[in-house]
Amino acid sequence: MGINRILVIGAGTMGRQIAMSAALAGYTTTLNDISEAALAAAHEDLEQWAATRVAKGKMEQQTADAALERLASTTDLDASARHADLVIEAAVEKLEIKRSIFGKLGKVAPVHAVLATNSSTLASSQVAAATGRPGQVCNMHFFNPALVMKCVEVVRNEHTTDTTVNTVMEVARRMGKEPVLVQREIPGFIANRMMGAIQREALELLSGGVASIKDIDTTARTALGHPMGPFELMDLVGLDVIDFIAQATHAETGADADKPHELVMQKVAEGRLGRKTGSGFYDY
Ligand code: CAA
Repeated sequence: MGINRILVIGAGTMGRQIAMSAALAGYTTTLNDISEAALAAAHEDLEQWAATRVAKGKMEQQTADAALERLASTTDLDASARHADLVIEAAVEKLEIKRSIFGKLGKVAPVHAVLATNSSTLASSQVAAATGRPGQVCNMHFFNPALVMKCVEVVRNEHTTDTTVNTVMEVARRMGKEPVLVQREIPGFIANRMMGAIQREALELLSGGVASIKDIDTTARTALGHPMGPFELMDLVGLDVIDFIAQATHAETGADADKPHELVMQKVAEGRLGRKTGSGFYDY
């Protein structure tokens, strides 16, 4: 199916970079948020990102300008959804909010529009019924930082049609990503299940007094070739997000292995959420 206009809902860390990826791929893109301030912050951040790319010689000024021009911002969800061919929802990870957004999209988005969620914890089957078109709904899960990471997990729910899957995979490819297909819904999909296993082991090694945070991270980089260690990565993703993923996964599976880790919960309680608050496992 031909996709020309993309609407991204939520101007947070993920939404803004997904929107910029879409604009850079040539899509007429709208970024929607309930907060004017969040939209302004997102725009400023993306302008800064583009200016740095240009200064580094990694992007032509013209390319940056054209992408920023293709990227509109609005707080008016109804108006922007009315013209969207593909919606990528990246709002807060709260089911009732997502359900209400998808309910609205089902009413106002064009009948052909594909409705995707970037959620890593809420499977699209939990919002699909609210749209009245469950076959056109799936997860389209990007990774942080979304302008850099190549993976996009496309997760089908039991109603998702092949056309929907193919459309979303094709859009991801046009964004320069390497999409993977998750054939059925499972908590954590592929990446967060593997990431969770590594993080769990790293937290156990630390709390068991086996090695320091720095040495565990160094080992992940120098022995396993990971671009960053598990503690650096948790600080990048945000310890509140890590904890939320663990809570959601554990609520669904009940497995001991999925239990939120005390060390992470403690940091969250102290408000040390990682890079975004200036400290987490490391100080920034
Ligand atoms: N936003 C945009 N671009 C960024 C960025 C950010 N926050 N951070 C780094 N970059 C860019 C840099 O500009 C740089 O670009 P160029 O090379 O083209 O100039 C490039 O990324 C490399 O950055 P650095 O040289 O500063 O540092 P690095 O080589 O260590 O790379 C990294 C940084 C890309 C984040 C890399 O360390 C990495 O891949 N880390 C692992 C990230 C990861 O695993 N993400 C998944 C998280 S899980 C998730 O998102 C799922 C979920 O549901 C929670």
